[in-house]
Amino acid sequence: MALTLFVTGTDTGVGKTYAAVALVQALRAAGRTVGVMKPVASGCEHGPDGLRNDDALALIAACGRPLRYADVNPYAFEPPIAPHLAARAVGVTVDPAVLDAAYRRLAADCEVMVVEGAGGWRVPLSDDLAFSDWVAGHGWPVLLVVGLRLGCLNHAMLSAESIARQTRLAGWIANRLPPEQVEWAANVETLRRRLEAPLLACLAPAAAASPALDGMVLAELLNGLKATV
Ligand SMILES: Nc1ncnc2c1ncn2[C@@H]1O[C@H](COP(=O)(O)OP(=O)(O)OP(=O)(O)O)[C@@H](O)[C@H]1O
Ligand SMILES: [Mg+2]
Repeated sequence: MALTLFVTGTDTGVGKTYAAVALVQALRAAGRTVGVMKPVASGCEHGPDGLRNDDALALIAACGRPLRYADVNPYAFEPPIAPHLAARAVGVTVDPAVLDAAYRRLAADCEVMVVEGAGGWRVPLSDDLAFSDWVAGHGWPVLLVVGLRLGCLNHAMLSAESIARQTRLAGWIANRLPPEQVEWAANVETLRRRLEAPLLACLAPAAAASPALDGMVLAELLNGLKATV
């Protein structure tokens, strides 16, 4: 079975997809066969083949394999609202067995699976299930993307504590989200001292919205992972 990494973040819009795409590219450059999943997504758009989510499409493109969309993103909801509310609005209950089945199909023929969450670690998927419960049930190591902006220290520490209670925080990634935070380096240092898990990479702000990262950052990310998973 594939080594599976779950990518969560301190909030929505902090760079989970950005970091996950970079991670997938780094793994591919290192010769690994990679599978991807965005199990539950809201904020999807109608296309000729049904609802499609930008994160899922970006992850599929990064992994460079013709994965079945319905496996990568079994639950796609249109309104950009919390997943359990988007599901309820269309009379759907997110079923972990459906997520598991899709995961198994993808994981069967790859070495590493990169799975992106929605929002942050404790986001609800239904009245009875949080995203974190599904991840913890599998015991997957978690990568926490910290979007460097005001408030991120508290969000990062709370997330790290909660992740450690349910499964293992393999490492965290500092993302210098634009507009760049004043004192970003001091914030990274503050977290480096307080979080037990290692800092795997510090992602620079890209000039364009391209997820491409320079070779050094990719190597750093990969080496950090090798040491921790
Ligand atoms: N280091 C960066 N440099 C430039 N742009 C970035 C950087 N990190 C993220 N972005 C941009 O910020 C936006 C939010 O990032 P991203 O979509 O990766 O967040 P997310 O955590 O995956 O959000 P969601 O909760 O919607 O899945 C995107 O437009 C992305 O391209
Ligand atoms: Mg995303």
